[in-house]
This record gives sequence, C-alpha cells and structure tokens, in this order.
Amino acid sequence: MLEPSTKNKPIRIRFGKLIDVLLVSDPGQIQWLNAHANIDRAIDPRASPVHRFVDRRLRDDLGFGGKLLPIFLARGAPQRAERQRALEQRLENLRGAPGPERDRIAAYVSGEGHVDEIGVLVQQWCGRLFFPDYRASRETYAAGRKLAGWPTTLPLRAFRDRVSGRLDHAKDLVAGAASDDLHCIHGTSIGMENVARSVRRLRRAAHSSDRTLSPDEILRHCLRAPPAVLRGCTAEVTTPFLDRPLTPHTLIVLLVARAYQSSGDLDVAFLSDGWSRCPAHEVVPEMLRALWHSAHHDERTPQRLFAKINDWSRQVGRAVS
Ligand code: HEM
Repeated sequence: MLEPSTKNKPIRIRFGKLIDVLLVSDPGQIQWLNAHANIDRAIDPRASPVHRFVDRRLRDDLGFGGKLLPIFLARGAPQRAERQRALEQRLENLRGAPGPERDRIAAYVSGEGHVDEIGVLVQQWCGRLFFPDYRASRETYAAGRKLAGWPTTLPLRAFRDRVSGRLDHAKDLVAGAASDDLHCIHGTSIGMENVARSVRRLRRAAHSSDRTLSPDEILRHCLRAPPAVLRGCTAEVTTPFLDRPLTPHTLIVLLVARAYQSSGDLDVAFLSDGWSRCPAHEVVPEMLRALWHSAHHDERTPQRLFAKINDWSRQVGRAVS
C-alpha cells in the first residue's frame, strides 16, 4: 500500500455547493481515495451541475441498452467484481495474446506498415481477446475512437453528434462488432485507445537512437494510462491530506496518467492494487513487451536461432540417411 503524501497538495476548485472539484495526481493519495468505502464510481446527478454534466456524458451517452459500461459501474454493482475477476483470469491465461494480429502489430513497431492501419489492428487484437472471429475495420476503429474520446468531447461537438445520430451510429458499430458484450465494447473502445497510443509510442521509441534503456524502462515510458477517472462521495470523507472534508457535492478527478508519469509504476497505470483494477493489467504489458522484443530481435533471437539450427540438422539428417 502506497502512503498518501501530504507534500503533493491536490487542487480543489470550490464555489459553494455549486462546484466542488478535486484534482489528485499523487499516487498514494489516489490509492487512499480509491480504497475509501464512501468513495465510488457512482456519480449522483443531483449533487451539482458538474455531476449532472458528467452523469449525462457517461451514464446516458455511453450507456448500451440502459446498461453501463463496466468501467462506470459502482463498486458494489451486482456481479461487477465476479465478472472483473473472471475476465482477469481469462486474460492472464492468454499470456500476451500471441497470434497474427500481434505479429502484424510487431511489424508495425519495427517500421513496416502504414501509421493509419495500426488502430484497426489494435482494435482487432483487443476484440479477439473476447471473440476469436472479431473483425475490426476502419469504420469500427473510428467509432471506437469516438467513444474513447467522448468524455472530453467539447459540448457543441457532443451536441451535434447526439442530434445528428453520429454518436448512436458509432455505438451501434462498436456494439455490433462486439456482439453486444459490454466488456468487449469497453475493450474495443476506451481500452483499445490506450493500447493503440502505447503501440504508437513503441514505434517511435524503436526508431529513436537511445539504446541505453532496458526493455522494461521502454515499456514504462511507452505505456499510456487513462488521463483521468472520476469518483463521487456517498458521504462526508475526512482525508489526511486535505484541510476540508470531501462531501457528496465533491467530484473527484483521479489524474491517473499524471500519477503514472511521476511514478512509472504499472500498478498505478492499471490501478491494480484496488477494487477497480483493470482486468487487462497483465495481458497488455505482456503484449507490449513481446512487441518490443520482436522489433529488436533480442532475447528471442537465441530461441529463433536454436529453432533454425534444429531445422537445419533435421534437413541434413534427412539428406544423409
Ligand atoms: C494501456 C491499456 C490500459 C490501461 C492503462 C487501462 C487502465 C485501466 C484503469 C486505470 C482502470 C480502472 C478505472 C477505474 O478505476 O474507474 C481500468 C478498468 C477496466 N479496464 Fe482497463 N486499461 C487498459 C486496457 C484495457 C483493455 C484492452 C481492456 C479489455 C480487454 C480493459 C478492460 C477494463 C475493464 C473491463 C475495466 C473495468 C473493471 C471493473 O471495474 O469491472 N482495459 N482500466
């Protein structure tokens, strides 16, 4: 358990009960808040205009058939924890999910292929974590990206996308490809976008001249964490690092990407030490590590060489017998 630092003061923007937003980027404080029993993903739209705005964006706009994406479900929502554990177990057993998609992504990291194609490939890799016949296309990728960026879409743009039906069309495309499975919808939109951004960074790193970093340092540098995750308070909460208690009118913004940047700790990027941990916290780093090794032909090179030597000796053996 990380200690909440009292040095890194969070930023609190308050205007009576109308606006009360807390921005936190210290990894220990994030963990402390996320573990508190009165702090949850549920955002009460009656608490303030900011809560109402966020609730509409996440619950209404990104809801599917009246159901929330798993990433927005409250800690105690029925079956949330069981499904999270089951998915985590399944993804861990995939050991970095090798296959044709991963090979093509590795080729991209080593400089082949076109930059435009990578999103589609990454979405297909994410989709195949759920369904072996998942098919991504330019359209499903654009739709997944729209959903991933939806929480920060400017209000006028969001209004236009709602009214024109573009948001619903994007949701239909992503949900159709994911056979309406809510975990797969999340994985091929919000989850996928973090993976795609990490892969793009890996490609840049593979072409940089700095060869002094170890594969683990490269992975930590390239992994992209979600910029922010949101929390509400179900009752008053007194913390060791704030002068005033948090109340049900406070909206808490956990700045995960910033906390990850300052700590380089993968458990911070995936919030893996708490109840809301990402079920992909092993499969994604394992896949990124494998991409890096393939791009550099290192560590696996001896294995490939031994395989080749075995092959040659078999052929020689056959020729002389
Ligand atoms: C670089 C890649 C990724 C990062 C850094 C990441 C990070 C996170 C974080 C920080 C959370 C917790 C959010 C919260 O506390 O509210 C989360 C939740 C989640 N993530 Fe990921 N994620 C990634 C990719 C993925 C992928 C590819 C999938 C699907 C295969 C996935 C599935 C999920 C699910 C289902 C949850 C919700 C868990 C629950 O409470 O039921 N993530 N992720």
